[in-house]
Amino acid sequence: MKPLGSAAPAEALDARARMPRRRFLVGAGCTAVAALVGEGLRAALEERPLPAGSIDLARSALPAPGDALAVTLEPAGIEALVLNTTAVGLVAFDRRCPHLGCPVLWSRDHARLECPCHAAWFEAATGEVGGGPPPRGLTKLNIEVGSDGGIRVATRPVRA
Ligand code: FES
Repeated sequence: MKPLGSAAPAEALDARARMPRRRFLVGAGCTAVAALVGEGLRAALEERPLPAGSIDLARSALPAPGDALAVTLEPAGIEALVLNTTAVGLVAFDRRCPHLGCPVLWSRDHARLECPCHAAWFEAATGEVGGGPPPRGLTKLNIEVGSDGGIRVATRPVRA
């Protein structure tokens, strides 16, 4: 005689009972890994002195007013943007967004730096956060103008 209602063998019930627990453990594990990765990223992006790096740009290579130029400071391999702003002239910033490290982009239309990852934006003249989740502004780099009109962009002042 077939029993009324639905019943499952003990092993099946046990397996069903464990499934949510397994999912819970997998979810908890993923959450822990995400928290560790997030913490690692946060620590990596904390404002701390950049390693030494620089690039020399000839006057003819400088961006036109209202434009930007992507460069790499060596030997550290730091990606940077050199802006020629209408407000303050030449400025340069480390491209890494202080939120989670995406490279920021120059928006000519908005005359500001924008992060494509979470819609943050930064003031072109100062690198300060204008909107979005970053906890601080972009890291400003040093610019020294040579006698020939070229510039040196560096993570540290060239002259002591
Ligand atoms: S990484 Fe730039 S706003 Fe999130």
